[in-house]
Amino acid sequence: MNESAKESIKERIAELTETINRLNYNYHVLDETLIPDHEFDQLFHELKELEAQYPQYKDPNTPTEKVGGRVLSGFTEIRHERPMLSLDNAFNAEDLTHFHERVLERLGGTVTEIEYFAEPKLDGLAVSIIYENGLLRRAATRGDGITGEDVTENIRTIRSLPHQLKGDFPARLEVRGEVFMRKSVFEKINEQQLKRGQKPFANPRNAAAGSIRQLDSKIAASRQLSFYCYGVGLYEALPIEITRHSEWLSYVESLGIPISPLNEKIDTLAGIVEYYQRIESSRDQLPFEIDGVVIKVDDLLLQERLGFVSRSPRFAIAVKFPAMEARTRLLDVDFQVGRTGAITPVARLEPVEVGGVVVANATLHNQDEIARLGVMINDEVMIHRAGDVIPKVIRVVLENRDPELVKPILFPTECPICGSPIIRLEGEAIARCSGGLTCDAQKLEGLKHFVSRTAMNIDGIGGRWLEVLLQEKVIDSIADLYHLEKARLLELPRMGEKSAEKMIASIEGSKKPAFANFIYALGIREVGEATARTLANHYESLSDLMKSSEVELMQLEDIGPIVAQRIVEFFALPHHQALIAALLDAGIEIQYPQKVTQAENAALPFLGETWVITGTLSHFDRNGAKEKLISLGAKVTGSVSKSTTRLLAGEKAGSKLTQAEKNGVEVISEERFLEMIEGL
Ligand code: IVH
Repeated sequence: MNESAKESIKERIAELTETINRLNYNYHVLDETLIPDHEFDQLFHELKELEAQYPQYKDPNTPTEKVGGRVLSGFTEIRHERPMLSLDNAFNAEDLTHFHERVLERLGGTVTEIEYFAEPKLDGLAVSIIYENGLLRRAATRGDGITGEDVTENIRTIRSLPHQLKGDFPARLEVRGEVFMRKSVFEKINEQQLKRGQKPFANPRNAAAGSIRQLDSKIAASRQLSFYCYGVGLYEALPIEITRHSEWLSYVESLGIPISPLNEKIDTLAGIVEYYQRIESSRDQLPFEIDGVVIKVDDLLLQERLGFVSRSPRFAIAVKFPAMEARTRLLDVDFQVGRTGAITPVARLEPVEVGGVVVANATLHNQDEIARLGVMINDEVMIHRAGDVIPKVIRVVLENRDPELVKPILFPTECPICGSPIIRLEGEAIARCSGGLTCDAQKLEGLKHFVSRTAMNIDGIGGRWLEVLLQEKVIDSIADLYHLEKARLLELPRMGEKSAEKMIASIEGSKKPAFANFIYALGIREVGEATARTLANHYESLSDLMKSSEVELMQLEDIGPIVAQRIVEFFALPHHQALIAALLDAGIEIQYPQKVTQAENAALPFLGETWVITGTLSHFDRNGAKEKLISLGAKVTGSVSKSTTRLLAGEKAGSKLTQAEKNGVEVISEERFLEMIEGL
């Protein structure tokens, strides 16, 4: 090789080293993702290959031999007693075969079959948690693998993680695992961030990492993080003998520490390939994000024989899935009008594959979000897709902006459908079309909502037909649905005898809605399914509900001033009153909740009781306990009052416990609660 070729390899290695170190710094320290994971993996792979071929050009600071993070100022440094390493990555089922062959080869023919333990690769951040005499003493992030940050206080806010181990615990135990944020929590937190005019998180991983790195543990607590253990570091005075990784996890679980429900013991190569494919295909339905699976040799003696290479063990491999993030171009922005007139900017993208799905649209949320992102038409953008929710634009790739090509996004001042002025009230993030029910877009969305499964459940009539019915002026309002005639329907293009009959039958079949479904179907702003249920449980009849005042409504659980105001405003409008009258005239008979029968009473042992939950529970997270109580008939409220029947008090219960004791409310420990619900 000539000198100039050598020089260019040397330069490429230096360039890759610099880039990867910078990307690592952004990812691990600043919780910012600058390029999609798979692009990062490619760079990393290229550097590793070049270094293997030309070790003389390897930088002493090479990222291929260290883990990534660095201590963020503000937290105390903690030196890990045993380094926290990371895993070698693979990208497809074929790589799994190679891994299996390497394992067999390395063991030199002494074994022919390997038992593996398969786990999801959770997409969060790695932490080490030390328990001494059963008590949670210290927790640290992985950092650079040698030193991490002391995040003990924030880790203590994770509700599913016990502060005190149960069962037969060792004198000392270091639990290692992943802190992550569930998709549902991520959605909720981002909504709150947007409402407060704060920057939303790009993905659940960044949200989890950002929350654990909060210096204020009250903020960390509000972020509702989760944790699954995937391994053990140090331990002292272990009361039982453990010879397998799977035994470690079962033991740790018996001490009260959560582990992933997706873990499986698998003893063939075909089995692990099947696991990889199965987990990948269920990925969108999982409640948390994963970025692959991890396959580990289960037998600890074999693990020891296999050992490590520089930064990763030879006995385990991470097989990654395609990234949930991708880079593409923003071609244009459309403005959609929702049921309540809310204007949502929708990004039209150059189609791109994200985690196995082709994405051509993404949400830009609202006007403030466009400003915050600083995005322009023709920009290159990063998008993220979490499960089934609409993908979002999370960042502009400013480095690739062509100033000649980009155009500003102009937020409309008039509704693109009906031309009415768009109004944004002070203090609100959402701009709305002021056309109300004169706007065809709002009418159509209102109709779609009305017929939807959780509202009136009119399944014979989908969005497309509703659009046609409106366009052809067969209907103008919701109540008109109940006067559809077959002969008129058959005049519509492409309408068949069968479809027309099905439509009319399913409309007929919707005439006896449950009270809660009817309330929800009306589409009152801020009244979702849960609020509709609360209202239906409280009010004797629709006319009672229509007469209620804001003060009265605010007495109900989960109804605040804004929701109360929306409800009162809704029923005060004459055209809403007329709509309700027309629906009732058309023959709708609301079904009010029946008195509970004795048999149902037996299945609902806590019926009529109001419970409050406080402190940290070790067998449930808060929501789990709440759901259990509700399923047994109880009402669960947030604070202790005269109407509280019982208080479920976990560890570290504070003011609510004092309050309950003062009020003479019965206090139930978690153990007592478990006994009470056993066998129910
Ligand atoms: S085992 C010696 N198991 O992936 C390495 N890691 O690159 C021990 N991760 O730092 C790690 N899910 O943050 C392991 N089931 C799992 C995992 C997992 C996610 C993360 C973890 C680790 C990184 C490895």
